[in-house]
Amino acid sequence: MVIQTHNLTKIYQFGRKGAFKALDNLNLSVKEGEIFGYLGPNGAGKTTTIRMMLDIIRPTSGRIEILGMDAQRDSVALHHHIGFMPGELNLWKNEKAINIIKYFGRVRGNLDMAYVKELAERLQFDMSKKFREYSSGNKRKLGLILALMHRPQLLILDEPTSGLDPLMQQTFNQLMREIREEGRTVFLSSHVLSEVQAICDRVGILRGGLLRAVENVEDLTHANFRWITIQYDGHIPDLSQVAGVSEVTKVNGTTVKFRFSGDFDPLLRTLTQADYIRHFKTQEPTLEEIFLAFYDDGQNVMNDNTKQEVAI
Ligand SMILES: Nc1ncnc2c1ncn2[C@@H]1O[C@H](COP(=O)(O)OP(=O)(O)O)[C@@H](O)[C@H]1O
Ligand SMILES: [Mg+2]
Repeated sequence: MVIQTHNLTKIYQFGRKGAFKALDNLNLSVKEGEIFGYLGPNGAGKTTTIRMMLDIIRPTSGRIEILGMDAQRDSVALHHHIGFMPGELNLWKNEKAINIIKYFGRVRGNLDMAYVKELAERLQFDMSKKFREYSSGNKRKLGLILALMHRPQLLILDEPTSGLDPLMQQTFNQLMREIREEGRTVFLSSHVLSEVQAICDRVGILRGGLLRAVENVEDLTHANFRWITIQYDGHIPDLSQVAGVSEVTKVNGTTVKFRFSGDFDPLLRTLTQADYIRHFKTQEPTLEEIFLAFYDDGQNVMNDNTKQEVAI
């Protein structure tokens, strides 16, 4: 395992009596050469976990092994093998990006300027401006270059794609795939399902400081239900009684949408009784819908957020 946490727990103390458990007995394994998505709504404990991996804050109890070393005891040695991108990058405001890159290169040693230029080009990032002049999306690009430029074995990225436009997100995804092809490992956090769905091999779902599930993205997307939309003319029989059909919605007078699982045969036999089928569309459920179906424990944590379509 590249990352292994053992009963990792963080309780934040504030004042004399205040205490808040942000992470509760986390046992998480990340394998070599995978892109692992750490998914959870805001406040779930993602950044808390990542800060402990980087030894920025200390666990209340439990421990983390990274690349066979102890994340706390061996943090200095580990930093050479890890590329880290924080959720919010705060660097010297008046310094130019290129100088920041060179500074980091000097501290780490062996700065590969050709590779830095290649990264900047692919990300369409102009390195000649001062840090304070960059938009949040451009700060993210700088953060990515700083995380990638020493070709680390492990990338730990805290919400790397928030603020990136869709085109840059494609570039980011491509970069991550290349890193995986080289056998390196990526651990990234996100609160947006579609992002992790696009690149991750496995996903861990964190809610309220608890790891709720760890699944292969592929297994999830092949969950056995579909959305079906039918456009028809004239009469269509009542589908709500057909085996496997649920949540029937008449979108308008000529379109019906429903959820479907199981064998198609009973559905198709019933549909032959319709006057005319103009269009038949099946859609795979989104990860969000799958998670809701599989893991919703009635605590409404997710339900509050489902209004935002893509965010859990
Ligand atoms: N330094 C801190 N002191 C007290 N509470 C904190 C501190 N940092 C984070 N928290 C709380 O811990 C919880 C998890 O935060 P965080 O790890 O930042 O979540 P995420 O990154 O998933 O949005 C939140 O409720 C947050 O308010
Ligand atoms: Mg966070």
